[in-house]
Amino acid sequence: MNLGADLQIGSVRLDGNLILAPLAGYTNLPFRLVIREVGGVGLCVTDLVNARSLVERNPKALQLIASRPEDRPLSVQLFGSVPEEMVEAAKFVEQQGAALIDINMGCPVRKVCKVGGGSAMMTETARTAALVAGMVNAVRVPVTCKMRLGWDDDNLTAPELARALAEAGAAAIMVHGRTRAQGFDGTVNLPGIRAVVEAVGGLVPVIGNGDVTTPQAAKTMLAETGCAGIAVGRGAFYDPWFFARTRAYLATGTLPPEATFAERVRVLTRHLDYMVEVFGEAHGCRLFRKVAPWYARRFGPCSFFNKRVVRLNNRAEFDTILAEYVAWRAPFLEADGVTLQPKYAPAPLGENFSRAPLGSDVGENPAAANRTAIPVPSGPQEWW
Ligand SMILES: Cc1cc2nc3c(=O)[nH]c(=O)nc-3n(C[C@H](O)[C@H](O)[C@H](O)COP(=O)(O)O)c2cc1C
Repeated sequence: MNLGADLQIGSVRLDGNLILAPLAGYTNLPFRLVIREVGGVGLCVTDLVNARSLVERNPKALQLIASRPEDRPLSVQLFGSVPEEMVEAAKFVEQQGAALIDINMGCPVRKVCKVGGGSAMMTETARTAALVAGMVNAVRVPVTCKMRLGWDDDNLTAPELARALAEAGAAAIMVHGRTRAQGFDGTVNLPGIRAVVEAVGGLVPVIGNGDVTTPQAAKTMLAETGCAGIAVGRGAFYDPWFFARTRAYLATGTLPPEATFAERVRVLTRHLDYMVEVFGEAHGCRLFRKVAPWYARRFGPCSFFNKRVVRLNNRAEFDTILAEYVAWRAPFLEADGVTLQPKYAPAPLGENFSRAPLGSDVGENPAAANRTAIPVPSGPQEWW
């Protein structure tokens, strides 16, 4: 069985079956461009966008869906509770070039749930199916739905809901294998995802999501749940090479080496350049402050770098920080000037996540450098 076979979502055929999951505040155009350049990804999803804001052409919402020809295929994730607004927003993003439209079914904010949106969608099957059917009928592009396993362990509604949405015309179901009550605690529930796959019964592809940070974990999720594809959020942010390595691993069974320090620095710099290009120098540099420490987690000793980069103000300053950091890092290397001494090298990428604050594992402390856990990035996580 080819676990990495191309994924067909309605009329759209993806190259492979690996998807960048939405991470609000992170999966912006610069990050998507970087991920696509590194390779291996079949589809990227935008941050969630409020349907009403799009209908009102709110500039912030328009920026969230800003794209380029290189940023294809792109799925725009909509969030909203009013069917007419969701339909209108769907038509608009289709016009703007979205290849797919995804519906967020995770938001628990009271005023949204009260009128049947967000997480309430997971508890009101008929109403949700009607909303999905309305959107499916209004656009030509495939409409997909992203959900959790259910509200809590006593209400694992995803299998029944997923089936109903597939019957209503959803072209794929993306499911994060945790309940809403679970937040990001515990580990992802593979039998829970499998139950969704079985309920949907091959009607449309089910895409598994949650805790996949390594090619091996991707393979395990595909094999144990029977899902047709995988969506990865935090793992890709931690290691933008995730998709390329996983694609190769699924195809050949051989694990490609991790990206080198030089390659990480090259791509990190590219990421900054895109940030500056898309958001302007001042704002781009500010946004980059929360991005760079993620790359640095694989640099080995990195406290010198992190302390400076989180105060970055302009593009030129980055080159200075980088040059000084490379000199600072040199004593941690072997005589070859390239390889980190074993006691300073980060442990191989692990499969588990923790809530350790970002940047807390500054690297010249070998014990800390060897921690492989990936934190939940800061952001409004209560929304999914
Ligand atoms: C900071 C952050 C932002 C997120 N933003 C969104 C979002 O906008 N829409 C959504 O459906 N899920 C969102 N999620 C959930 C992820 O898409 C994904 O379901 C979850 O992180 C589990 O996958 P992972 O372990 O690969 O990260 C977000 C998660 C985090 C940590």
